[in-house]
Amino acid sequence: MKDKVAVVTGGARGIGKAICEKLARQGCNVVVSDIDGDGAKTTAKELEALGISAIGVAANVADADQVKAMVKETIDVFGRVDILINNAGITRDSLIMRMSEADWDLVIQINLKGAFLCTKAVIRPMMKQRSGKIINVASVIGRMGNAGQANYAASKAGMIGLTQSTAKEVAARNIQVNAIAPGFIQTEMTQDLGKEVIDAYLESIPAKRAGTPDDVANVTAFLASTASDYVTGQVINIDGGLLIA
Ligand SMILES: NC(=O)c1ccc[n+]([C@@H]2O[C@H](COP(=O)([O-])OP(=O)(O)OC[C@H]3O[C@@H](n4cnc5c(N)ncnc54)[C@H](O)[C@@H]3O)[C@@H](O)[C@H]2O)c1
Repeated sequence: MKDKVAVVTGGARGIGKAICEKLARQGCNVVVSDIDGDGAKTTAKELEALGISAIGVAANVADADQVKAMVKETIDVFGRVDILINNAGITRDSLIMRMSEADWDLVIQINLKGAFLCTKAVIRPMMKQRSGKIINVASVIGRMGNAGQANYAASKAGMIGLTQSTAKEVAARNIQVNAIAPGFIQTEMTQDLGKEVIDAYLESIPAKRAGTPDDVANVTAFLASTASDYVTGQVINIDGGLLIA
């Protein structure tokens, strides 16, 4: 991946940061984009120690102008964009009868609309280049649902539809669009789930362990590489067997 340029949203920490590191170790230059601009810049500095070029850019994926500015900065600095990882995401869990409209809207806007806005912003330069890789970080919850996560599950199921439709639109331009569906991964997003919820997850995972951000980054790196050039519109579970269907 030497001299390729990847944009990773939500790249400041967690799964996004692990993806940034994996791509950087393979020679990719990285744009770390995050609503936490300081975190993005700190991660970018750490990546440069790996011998590649990296920049940290503050951007809220749910804001079209901020997304356009982030992609413009990418093109201004690196001249191209080869890989987009739509990783930024949040949860606002509650049972549907208690779920506020605001929490519904926020999760859909960041997780689903954010992926749409970022895809739209990179698709023209990728089409001109006649190459590109877009990887949407969905979730097994988008494929199986989860009590207390109707907004999150709907956003992640929506990302799968977005993946499949975009894949069909751009396949002839040599742009591959795939989704990954992580299961239960140890990050700050999951650390506050109660012990009972965590134990229930561990019990239902055939591999009997939580996943690591690195488990997710390994599969993402494959989808970002030329090794996956004939793979498009797919969803790959990374879940230790949690969802086998
Ligand atoms: N941790 C899991 O078990 C798990 C499982 C399946 C899917 N996922 C998905 O993986 C992705 C990363 O999750 P994580 O566990 O690393 O979470 P995390 O909370 O540790 O990191 C998310 C990152 O996204 C950033 N972010 C949040 N809102 C943003 C916005 N509006 N614009 C730009 N950046 C924003 C945050 O600042 C943070 O750096 C998410 O899309 C999540 O839904 C996580």
